[in-house]
Amino acid sequence: MIKITDLTHKLIKEKTSINIAVDMTVGWGNDTLVLVSNSEFVYGFDIQKKALDKADILLKENGFANYQLINENHEFILNHINQKIDLCLYNLGYLPKGDKTIFTEATSTINSLKSVMTLLNEDGLIILVVYSHNKQERENLFSFCKTLSSEYDVMYYQVMNKENCPELITIKKVV
Ligand SMILES: C[S@@+](CC[C@H](N)C(=O)[O-])C[C@H]1O[C@@H](n2cnc3c(N)ncnc32)[C@H](O)[C@@H]1O
Repeated sequence: MIKITDLTHKLIKEKTSINIAVDMTVGWGNDTLVLVSNSEFVYGFDIQKKALDKADILLKENGFANYQLINENHEFILNHINQKIDLCLYNLGYLPKGDKTIFTEATSTINSLKSVMTLLNEDGLIILVVYSHNKQERENLFSFCKTLSSEYDVMYYQVMNKENCPELITIKKVV
């Protein structure tokens, strides 16, 4: 049975020629590692410096230097990036084996998404891994995605026969 995180990594690997990718929720850097392996350059955001420091070690240990980690709320992405983005990843919620009181929230997630969409290249892809424990964020995010114009293809993946599995949303800018 494929896990949602494996499916996320598969989608990243299937995307051809990623020049600029952004990891909006770096955490321990496991997803960032997949991004740097498949992109020319990766920007990564997280509000937890401790996690970014660990992620930095992981990326360096694996021989990568094609990234910049930014200790900032991803809501302020436009203060840091003014390049077109080919792929953007969100792994929402709290950091596993970390501080569970720090988690992504509806307002900043949706504000940041709106900013990312202004930078998204044609054919660009946004991937969101969503957890049901933050009901308000999930609800607001789903409502927001349903209102997006036909300039975007919005897809939704869910495990139908198991409870409490993360869900996956992809937003692709149509060429
Ligand atoms: C589910 S974890 C990410 C796990 C990560 N992808 C990994 O491979 O370890 C979510 C992360 O989002 C971060 N986060 C929460 N709110 C944020 C915000 N507004 N801006 C940036 N990062 C945020 C948390 O600190 C946490 O590390």
